[in-house]
Amino acid sequence: SDILAGAKIFTSNCASCHAGGQNIIMPARKKTLKKEALSQYLSGGMTEGSVIHIVTNGKSAMPAFGGRLSDEDIASVASYVIDQATFDKW
Ligand code: HEM
Repeated sequence: SDILAGAKIFTSNCASCHAGGQNIIMPARKKTLKKEALSQYLSGGMTEGSVIHIVTNGKSAMPAFGGRLSDEDIASVASYVIDQATFDKW
C-alpha cells in the first residue's frame, strides 16, 4: 500500500467528514483520526487492519467504501491514516 496514493484518496473520499483528522459528524464523541482517539475508540485498536475494516464496512453514520474503492485503495488510505496518527501529523 502507498501512503502518497492514500493521501489523495483521503482528500477525495474522507476529508468531507475528516478534514485535518477531525470528525465533523460526531465532534462531541471525539472519534477523530488522531492517535489517542484511534487507540481508544476504533474497534481492534490503532492498526491498519482496523482502519481497513471500518472503511470497508462503515459504522453508524460512516458510509461503507467496500465496492466503491478497490481493496488496494482502501489499504493505501489506511496506511495514510495510520502514518498521520502515529507521527502526530494531523
Ligand atoms: C469513524 C476513517 C470517510 C464519518 C472513522 C474512523 C476512521 C475513519 C479510522 C474511526 C475513528 C475513531 O474511532 O476514533 C475514514 C476514512 C474515510 C472515511 C479513511 C474515507 C475512505 C468518512 C465519511 C464520513 C465519515 C465520508 C461522513 C459521511 C465517520 C463517522 C465516524 C467515523 C460518523 C464515527 C463512527 C462511529 O464510531 O460510530 N472514520 N472515514 N467517515 N467516520 Fe470515517
